[in-house]
Amino acid sequence: MSHLIAPSMLAADFGNLQRDCEMVNNSDADWFHIDVMDGHFVPNISYGMPVIKAIKKHATKPLDVHLMIEKPERYIEEFANVGADIITVHYESTVHLDRTLAQINDAGCKAGIVLNLTTPVSVLEDILPKCYMVLIMSINPGFGGQKLEDVTYDKVKKLRKMINDKGLDTHIEIDGGVNIDNAKKLINAGANVLVAGSFVFKSQNPTQTISDLKSI
Ligand code: DX5
Ligand code: ZN
Repeated sequence: MSHLIAPSMLAADFGNLQRDCEMVNNSDADWFHIDVMDGHFVPNISYGMPVIKAIKKHATKPLDVHLMIEKPERYIEEFANVGADIITVHYESTVHLDRTLAQINDAGCKAGIVLNLTTPVSVLEDILPKCYMVLIMSINPGFGGQKLEDVTYDKVKKLRKMINDKGLDTHIEIDGGVNIDNAKKLINAGANVLVAGSFVFKSQNPTQTISDLKSI
Protein backbone atom coordinates (compact mmCIF):
# COMPACT_ATOMS: atom_id res chain seq x y z
CA MET A 1 0.00 0.00 0.00
CA SER A 2 1.30 3.40 -0.82
CA HIS A 3 2.09 5.88 1.92
CA LEU A 4 -0.23 8.67 3.07
CA ILE A 5 0.41 12.42 3.11
CA ALA A 6 -1.05 14.67 5.81
CA PRO A 7 -0.38 18.39 5.26
CA SER A 8 -0.16 20.24 8.57
CA MET A 9 -2.67 23.08 8.67
CA LEU A 10 -0.46 24.86 11.22
CA ALA A 11 1.43 26.25 8.25
CA ALA A 12 -1.72 27.25 6.31
CA ASP A 13 -2.83 30.86 5.85
CA PHE A 14 -5.52 31.26 8.53
CA GLY A 15 -6.90 34.26 6.66
CA ASN A 16 -7.52 32.00 3.69
CA LEU A 17 -8.48 28.83 5.48
CA GLN A 18 -11.21 27.86 3.01
CA ARG A 19 -8.82 28.29 0.08
CA ASP A 20 -6.14 26.19 1.77
CA CYS A 21 -8.66 23.48 2.72
CA GLU A 22 -9.80 23.32 -0.89
CA MET A 23 -6.19 23.07 -2.04
CA VAL A 24 -5.75 20.03 0.21
CA ASN A 25 -9.11 18.57 -0.95
CA ASN A 26 -8.05 18.87 -4.58
CA SER A 27 -4.53 17.53 -4.05
CA ASP A 28 -3.08 14.03 -3.63
CA ALA A 29 -3.12 14.50 0.15
CA ASP A 30 -4.89 11.86 2.25
CA TRP A 31 -5.60 13.57 5.58
CA PHE A 32 -5.63 17.02 7.16
CA HIS A 33 -3.13 17.16 10.04
CA ILE A 34 -4.43 19.42 12.82
CA ASP A 35 -2.04 20.55 15.57
CA VAL A 36 -3.58 21.57 18.89
CA MET A 37 -1.18 23.23 21.38
CA ASP A 38 -2.07 24.50 24.84
CA GLY A 39 0.96 26.53 25.94
CA HIS A 40 1.60 24.03 28.76
CA PHE A 41 2.50 20.69 27.22
CA VAL A 42 4.36 22.62 24.54
CA PRO A 43 5.51 26.26 24.76
CA ASN A 44 3.26 27.40 21.92
CA ILE A 45 -0.51 27.95 21.57
CA SER A 46 -2.08 27.14 18.18
CA TYR A 47 -5.84 26.82 17.84
CA GLY A 48 -8.75 24.85 19.21
CA MET A 49 -12.33 23.79 18.54
CA PRO A 50 -13.69 26.77 16.56
CA VAL A 51 -10.89 26.58 14.00
CA ILE A 52 -11.20 22.80 13.70
CA LYS A 53 -14.93 23.25 13.14
CA ALA A 54 -14.17 25.73 10.36
CA ILE A 55 -11.72 23.33 8.72
CA LYS A 56 -14.24 20.49 9.00
CA LYS A 57 -16.82 22.58 7.17
CA HIS A 58 -14.63 22.62 4.07
CA ALA A 59 -12.56 19.43 4.36
CA THR A 60 -13.52 16.40 2.30
CA LYS A 61 -10.75 14.24 3.79
CA PRO A 62 -10.27 12.87 7.33
CA LEU A 63 -9.04 15.16 10.12
CA ASP A 64 -5.99 13.77 11.91
CA VAL A 65 -5.97 15.70 15.19
CA HIS A 66 -2.64 15.79 17.07
CA LEU A 67 -3.20 16.89 20.66
CA MET A 68 -0.19 18.58 22.25
CA ILE A 69 -2.10 19.36 25.42
CA GLU A 70 -1.86 18.30 29.07
CA LYS A 71 -4.50 15.82 30.22
CA PRO A 72 -6.13 15.41 26.79
CA GLU A 73 -8.80 13.19 28.38
CA ARG A 74 -10.58 16.39 29.41
CA TYR A 75 -11.42 17.28 25.81
CA ILE A 76 -11.73 14.08 23.73
CA GLU A 77 -15.52 14.28 23.23
CA GLU A 78 -15.29 17.94 22.25
CA PHE A 79 -12.69 17.21 19.59
CA ALA A 80 -14.82 14.34 18.28
CA ASN A 81 -17.84 16.66 18.17
CA VAL A 82 -16.07 19.27 16.05
CA GLY A 83 -15.10 16.65 13.48
CA ALA A 84 -11.93 14.79 14.44
CA ASP A 85 -11.62 11.43 12.67
CA ILE A 86 -8.32 10.37 14.18
CA ILE A 87 -7.12 11.64 17.56
CA THR A 88 -3.55 11.16 18.73
CA VAL A 89 -2.44 11.88 22.29
CA HIS A 90 1.09 12.13 23.64
CA TYR A 91 2.38 9.28 25.78
CA GLU A 92 3.88 11.98 28.00
CA SER A 93 0.63 13.93 28.45
CA THR A 94 -1.70 11.52 30.22
CA VAL A 95 -1.31 9.02 33.06
CA HIS A 96 -4.04 6.54 32.08
CA LEU A 97 -3.26 6.08 28.44
CA ASP A 98 -5.33 2.93 28.02
CA ARG A 99 -8.38 4.70 29.36
CA THR A 100 -7.76 7.70 27.09
CA LEU A 101 -7.50 5.48 24.00
CA ALA A 102 -10.79 3.79 24.95
CA GLN A 103 -12.37 7.21 25.37
CA ILE A 104 -11.26 8.17 21.85
CA ASN A 105 -12.74 4.97 20.41
CA ASP A 106 -15.96 5.44 22.38
CA ALA A 107 -16.24 8.92 20.88
CA GLY A 108 -16.22 7.27 17.43
CA CYS A 109 -12.64 8.18 16.44
CA LYS A 110 -9.52 6.20 15.63
CA ALA A 111 -6.91 6.41 18.38
CA GLY A 112 -3.17 6.90 18.25
CA ILE A 113 -0.22 7.56 20.56
CA VAL A 114 2.50 10.15 19.97
CA LEU A 115 6.06 9.77 21.25
CA ASN A 116 8.37 12.67 21.94
CA LEU A 117 11.94 12.45 20.63
CA THR A 118 13.34 10.98 23.85
CA THR A 119 10.52 8.53 24.58
CA PRO A 120 11.62 5.08 23.39
CA VAL A 121 9.29 2.95 21.25
CA SER A 122 9.65 0.13 23.80
CA VAL A 123 7.03 1.83 26.03
CA LEU A 124 4.42 0.80 23.43
CA GLU A 125 5.05 -2.94 23.77
CA ASP A 126 1.83 -3.70 25.66
CA ILE A 127 -0.50 -1.05 24.24
CA LEU A 128 0.36 -1.43 20.55
CA PRO A 129 -2.60 -3.70 19.62
CA LYS A 130 -4.95 -0.91 20.72
CA CYS A 131 -3.32 1.75 18.53
CA TYR A 132 -4.63 2.57 15.07
CA MET A 133 -1.48 4.64 14.65
CA VAL A 134 1.74 5.66 16.36
CA LEU A 135 3.09 9.12 15.66
CA ILE A 136 6.83 9.43 16.12
CA MET A 137 7.84 13.05 16.63
CA SER A 138 10.91 13.86 14.57
CA ILE A 139 11.33 17.27 16.29
CA ASN A 140 10.58 18.74 19.71
CA PRO A 141 6.88 19.53 19.31
CA GLY A 142 5.55 23.08 19.47
CA PHE A 143 6.67 24.75 16.29
CA GLY A 144 6.73 24.10 12.57
CA GLY A 145 9.79 24.71 10.43
CA GLN A 146 12.36 22.73 12.45
CA LYS A 147 14.89 20.20 11.22
CA LEU A 148 14.13 16.46 11.45
CA GLU A 149 16.32 14.69 14.04
CA ASP A 150 18.29 11.66 12.85
CA VAL A 151 17.24 9.51 15.84
CA THR A 152 13.88 9.20 14.04
CA TYR A 153 15.04 6.60 11.52
CA ASP A 154 16.12 4.03 14.13
CA LYS A 155 12.95 4.56 16.13
CA VAL A 156 10.84 3.93 13.04
CA LYS A 157 12.77 0.77 12.20
CA LYS A 158 12.39 -0.58 15.74
CA LEU A 159 8.69 0.21 15.82
CA ARG A 160 8.03 -1.33 12.39
CA LYS A 161 9.75 -4.52 13.57
CA MET A 162 7.65 -4.56 16.74
CA ILE A 163 4.47 -4.10 14.68
CA ASN A 164 5.46 -6.85 12.21
CA ASP A 165 6.45 -9.27 14.98
CA LYS A 166 3.01 -8.85 16.51
CA GLY A 167 1.30 -9.28 13.13
CA LEU A 168 -0.34 -5.83 13.34
CA ASP A 169 -0.90 -3.22 10.63
CA THR A 170 -0.51 -0.09 12.77
CA HIS A 171 0.23 3.12 10.89
CA ILE A 172 3.52 4.86 11.64
CA GLU A 173 3.27 8.61 11.16
CA ILE A 174 6.21 11.04 11.19
CA ASP A 175 5.79 14.68 12.13
CA GLY A 176 8.37 17.45 11.96
CA GLY A 177 10.83 18.58 9.33
CA VAL A 178 9.60 16.21 6.63
CA ASN A 179 10.68 17.19 3.12
CA ILE A 180 11.42 15.64 -0.24
CA ASP A 181 15.02 14.87 0.76
CA ASN A 182 14.17 12.72 3.80
CA ALA A 183 10.74 11.32 2.80
CA LYS A 184 12.09 8.26 0.97
CA LYS A 185 14.41 7.34 3.83
CA LEU A 186 11.50 7.58 6.29
CA ILE A 187 9.31 5.34 4.13
CA ASN A 188 12.16 2.85 3.70
CA ALA A 189 12.61 2.76 7.48
CA GLY A 190 8.94 1.73 7.81
CA ALA A 191 6.90 4.90 8.15
CA ASN A 192 3.71 5.10 6.09
CA VAL A 193 2.16 8.47 6.98
CA LEU A 194 4.11 11.70 6.45
CA VAL A 195 3.03 15.02 7.95
CA ALA A 196 4.43 18.10 6.21
CA GLY A 197 3.72 21.70 7.15
CA SER A 198 6.24 24.29 6.00
CA PHE A 199 7.53 22.15 3.18
CA VAL A 200 4.04 22.13 1.62
CA PHE A 201 2.59 25.52 2.49
CA LYS A 202 5.75 27.60 2.05
CA SER A 203 6.43 26.10 -1.37
CA GLN A 204 5.68 27.85 -4.67
CA ASN A 205 3.10 25.26 -5.63
CA PRO A 206 1.67 23.37 -2.61
CA THR A 207 -0.47 21.05 -4.77
CA GLN A 208 2.59 19.98 -6.73
CA THR A 209 4.66 19.60 -3.56
CA ILE A 210 2.03 17.24 -2.14
CA SER A 211 2.12 15.20 -5.38
CA ASP A 212 5.90 15.07 -5.19
CA LEU A 213 5.74 13.73 -1.61
CA LYS A 214 3.05 11.24 -2.59
CA SER A 215 4.93 9.87 -5.58
CA ILE A 216 8.34 9.24 -4.00
C1 DX5 B 1 4.82 20.63 15.51
C2 DX5 B 1 3.65 20.01 14.82
C3 DX5 B 1 3.85 19.70 13.41
C4 DX5 B 1 4.26 20.88 12.54
C5 DX5 B 1 5.14 20.32 11.48
O1 DX5 B 1 4.78 20.43 16.87
O2 DX5 B 1 3.25 18.82 15.44
O3 DX5 B 1 2.74 19.03 12.85
O4 DX5 B 1 3.16 21.51 11.95
O5 DX5 B 1 5.63 21.36 10.72
P1 DX5 B 1 6.87 21.18 9.74
O6 DX5 B 1 6.47 20.18 8.69
O7 DX5 B 1 7.05 22.57 9.22
O8 DX5 B 1 8.04 20.70 10.56
ZN1 ZN C 1 1.62 17.58 14.43
